[in-house]
Amino acid sequence: MEFNRKHLLGLEDASKDEITYIIDTAKSFREVLSRPIPKVPTLRGKTIVNLFFEPSTRTRISFELAQKRLSADSVNFTAASSSVKKGESLRDTARNIEAMKIDMVVVRHSAAGAPHFLTQCVDASIINAGDGQHEHPTQGLLDLMTLLDKYGSLEGMKVAIVGDISHSRVARSNIYGLQSLGAEVALCGPPAFMPVAAEQWNVRIFYRIEEAIEWADALNVLRIQLERQHKGLFSTIREYHNLYGITLRRIEQAKKDLTILHPGPINRGVELDSQVADSEYALILDQVTNGVAIRMAVLYLLSGGEVNGQL
Ligand code: CP
Repeated sequence: MEFNRKHLLGLEDASKDEITYIIDTAKSFREVLSRPIPKVPTLRGKTIVNLFFEPSTRTRISFELAQKRLSADSVNFTAASSSVKKGESLRDTARNIEAMKIDMVVVRHSAAGAPHFLTQCVDASIINAGDGQHEHPTQGLLDLMTLLDKYGSLEGMKVAIVGDISHSRVARSNIYGLQSLGAEVALCGPPAFMPVAAEQWNVRIFYRIEEAIEWADALNVLRIQLERQHKGLFSTIREYHNLYGITLRRIEQAKKDLTILHPGPINRGVELDSQVADSEYALILDQVTNGVAIRMAVLYLLSGGEVNGQL
């Protein structure tokens, strides 16, 4: 298929064919990553800026690694040590960086819509690495790839997203991507964590974790995002864990093969017990491995899919 996108801003408008094409491309790059020399000249001559206004471990490192594996030149920007601290706006920051002749910008920002705004300020391709509570499309894609690795197809599969839904960009990208690939989606969490929009998403809603576990083939477990909450939405961490924590006892009571995903970072003992995080139910480190291949595929396809040499 032809992939004509210039930007990756979210999965809301991504078709099943586009998502499948990105994941199939990522599988080719995963093969590259398993070679003794895991590097190809595909993006030689391209310059990419990683513009992170919020903390990140997985997304940032995997984008940087993906760029190195594709032989692109990359530059890292951190808000804390930049002229943003002197009052420079997002638009001016981006336009000044673009004046240094760059091809792509990977951006993470606390404001929903920041990547969309950048598409109007600069000519470079923009990749959303997480914008506020809106979307995190490459996380959604790597989650889908991890489930496809295990199940082959997501048609009719039941996936419950558990936890702090209303503050989660990962939840939104997963809902759109899973539904595009034919999965049924449920949300589970305390009422205070359930967004008003949830009723328009064609999802099931559970307020009891036992019911979600009973229903689901896979759980995607989210962290409570205290950094995005303006007031306490639950009484104590212990109460949250007692009501919604994913424990080995809860999984074993369901007597079924359940898959556990988590985007990281994990708060062990809060949303997920250590025993579960480190168990065979969890595919958390497979998600991280797939993240590099997905980001290589996205960078490659958005750059026009021109191969400077063999893969
Ligand atoms: N999953 C995810 O976005 O993790 P980081 O915040 O560490 O990038």
